[in-house]
Amino acid sequence: MMAMAHPKLALRPYLAGDAAVLREIFRDSIEDLTADDYTPAQQEAWASAADDEAEFGKRLGSQLTLIATVEGSPAGFASLAGGNKIDMLYVHPAATGQGVGALLIDALEKLAGGRAAEKLIVDASDSARGFFEKRGYVAQQRNTISVGDEWLANTTLHKQLDKSLAAKREAS
Ligand code: ACO
Repeated sequence: MMAMAHPKLALRPYLAGDAAVLREIFRDSIEDLTADDYTPAQQEAWASAADDEAEFGKRLGSQLTLIATVEGSPAGFASLAGGNKIDMLYVHPAATGQGVGALLIDALEKLAGGRAAEKLIVDASDSARGFFEKRGYVAQQRNTISVGDEWLANTTLHKQLDKSLAAKREAS
């Protein structure tokens, strides 16, 4: 039998009032889930991107941001920038391993494909790289980015989207 989605798992669009809770998910996710790959100083520099709630809210609101909820409470979020770039993907540490990340990325892929994007691009953290590779993303290059006083490594990956699907939509 085909695996069914978690019955209590749902998706909804980001709303301005969500910035505070997504900021907490962002920070907790980095703190608890990336320690194998990044030093505490690197994690702190990374997490500080959400220190200014108004600025973080602006970033979330300017992108196509989706929230995954478990029994109605936000458990993770992902955002699409410029039509073909996955900018953010963060799942709360208490909600990992239940398909939350997969649900979010599947939805962004469908939305991007529906908007005629041919491929999706992601600069994935070393902690998330395996997740993306499992979903068919292919590594293109390693990057070292400057965040505050720290340098963080990530990997650019691409995934070719199903063109036949976009073509079918255009024809109908
Ligand atoms: N490496 C390899 N496989 C993984 C990883 C990983 N790091 N994480 C999950 N998987 C696998 C799971 O085992 C599962 O496999 P299955 O389908 O065979 O069961 C599949 O990927 C789907 O897993 P989910 O349960 O949907 O993933 P989850 O909800 O746990 O979220 C995520 C994964 C987003 C990587 C989460 O661990 C996280 O938030 N990490 C820390 C924050 C982070 O680094 N975010 C990315 C930053 S880069 C960016 O934002 C673009």
